[in-house]
Amino acid sequence: MFKCAKMMRNIVYGFVVFVSLSYTLGEEFNLFGGAGQAYSVEVNLGHPPQKFNLLVDTGSTTLAIASQVRQGGKSFFMANESSSIWDSGKQVQAKYSQGMWVGHLASDWVQFPSLPNIPKVRTDLALITESHKFFMNGSGWQGLLGLAYLPVGAWGENIIVESWLDSVDRTLKKPISFQLKLCGVKSATNATHYGNLQMLDNANENKNNNRTYQTPVLRQRWYEVGVLSVRVIDTGVNNTDSTQSPVVTDINNEICLKLNKEKSIVDSGTTNIRLPDTVFREIVGQIRNAVPETNVISDEFWYHGEAGCWPQPQEWSLPWIAIDLLSVDADNQYFTLEIPPQNYMRVVSAGEAGADFVCYKLGLEAGTETVLGYTAMEGLQVLFNRSAGWIGWQTSDCGSDARVTGPYNASTPLIDSCQLRRPVSETAVSIRAAQWALCAISIIAACVLVYLLAPCVKALCKKPLRMQQISLSTAALVEQET
Ligand SMILES: *[C@@H]1O[C@H](CO)[C@@H](O)[C@H](O)[C@H]1NC(C)=O
Ligand SMILES: *[C@@H]1O[C@H](CO)[C@@H](O)[C@H](O)[C@H]1NC(C)=O
Ligand SMILES: *[C@@H]1O[C@H](CO)[C@@H](O)[C@H](O)[C@H]1NC(C)=O
Ligand SMILES: *[C@@H]1O[C@H](CO)[C@@H](O)[C@H](O)[C@H]1NC(C)=O
Ligand SMILES: *[C@@H]1O[C@H](CO)[C@@H](O)[C@H](O)[C@H]1NC(C)=O
Repeated sequence: MFKCAKMMRNIVYGFVVFVSLSYTLGEEFNLFGGAGQAYSVEVNLGHPPQKFNLLVDTGSTTLAIASQVRQGGKSFFMANESSSIWDSGKQVQAKYSQGMWVGHLASDWVQFPSLPNIPKVRTDLALITESHKFFMNGSGWQGLLGLAYLPVGAWGENIIVESWLDSVDRTLKKPISFQLKLCGVKSATNATHYGNLQMLDNANENKNNNRTYQTPVLRQRWYEVGVLSVRVIDTGVNNTDSTQSPVVTDINNEICLKLNKEKSIVDSGTTNIRLPDTVFREIVGQIRNAVPETNVISDEFWYHGEAGCWPQPQEWSLPWIAIDLLSVDADNQYFTLEIPPQNYMRVVSAGEAGADFVCYKLGLEAGTETVLGYTAMEGLQVLFNRSAGWIGWQTSDCGSDARVTGPYNASTPLIDSCQLRRPVSETAVSIRAAQWALCAISIIAACVLVYLLAPCVKALCKKPLRMQQISLSTAALVEQET
């Protein structure tokens, strides 16, 4: 029982360790995340500066920070202790399908210690005063740094909330791009993940010599891109140089239409790769078929987002996932993100003192639209050129073996056949209601995970591990508890 309590404590309070870690690792990493959480960056708010961690979210636009005591988190921005705060008193809010926050619009000085080339700027902030199912116990962040476009910012009556990025552009009088290099975990037995956020102006040279593949941002709200297909590929091993590929490789039109029916976005605030249900089932079915019969993995793991635990770290010799993205270069051209099993079999908790088991979760989930969460970005270097409207993808020097290949040609123009060019007005009305849904749902999912893991750990402590794999459903947990 002692061990059990200790492990639960470690999982829940692990972020304290992560915070102090980010200093010792030097400037290479300025993003970190605890088990099941997205990546966050340290920020100084106000004058004198107060330090917080903000979740880096390309799925929303507003900088929002806890400004009152809340359940499950002690640290919050004390606005009245900042001599430079300007509080409008006007209400702003964000709603999403399972929760919401309300706050007021203020402005203050914002500075990121790990982004030396970006000056301290005065920017709009949402001071969160009330929230429901937004902050959860044990999360290592107190707010969000939204990096998307203005139409998906927080809203209030007759209020436009300027984003931090727009304030930076305005202050520097030039457009700034940002780059996410998400590296994932550093060892197979430790779920802490690391990454780097960098701000670039058009004069910065790119030190990564791997080829950059650009996909256009189709509509500038979220980072909406054309995901042409998602498929399972045998293995990445002998397929390294496909840049010369002479073959015309056509896109399955039916899948392409399905993927982009609602929209497809790149969202660092989401954990998983979210796919329309039929595509999800097809992909998962194929991956499952490749699992050796000796390693039994339950349906709960594949279809219900539950953790599976093994006594040792697993070497996943499973197929890779290929994600085809529209290229900016030509209407019939695309490139491919090749994602190894190390990305989508995500380590979510691992051998802590005395416990020899490692838990994984599937980095894929079903939904109504397509979301490339950070599972699709780890091992890659992703440049968001906001002003020019494209996202550049490169194989990176850190993290998994994920890579980018192409370009490939299709025989027909893809924008038309996949109906990628839809007018914005069609959906503009619904944006406000749905604006935060994307980031928030995944935050909730991530936090619930930390919460759910605790009983799993507890159960394992009570009983010696006999099975090869454990997947506890919530129903099973309830039974054990009673
Ligand atoms: C969060 O922590 C508080 C106090 O420690 C507790 O009362 C509450 O039930 C916890 N909530 C969750 C969702 O774990
Ligand atoms: C993860 O690794 C770091 C060092 O990189 C260590 O300080 C931390 O305790 C580890 N966490 C777990 C849960 O083992
Ligand atoms: C953004 O895109 C424009 C046009 O393609 C280009 O001139 C500029 O250098 C890009 N900026 C960065 C940081 O790559
Ligand atoms: C990859 O190529 C090497 C040498 O060309 C070969 O020995 C190996 O079996 C190939 N692997 C696969 C998975 O095809
Ligand atoms: C692919 O398409 C581009 C532009 O349409 C063209 O320049 C290129 O030669 C094509 N490549 C192949 C291998 O067909």
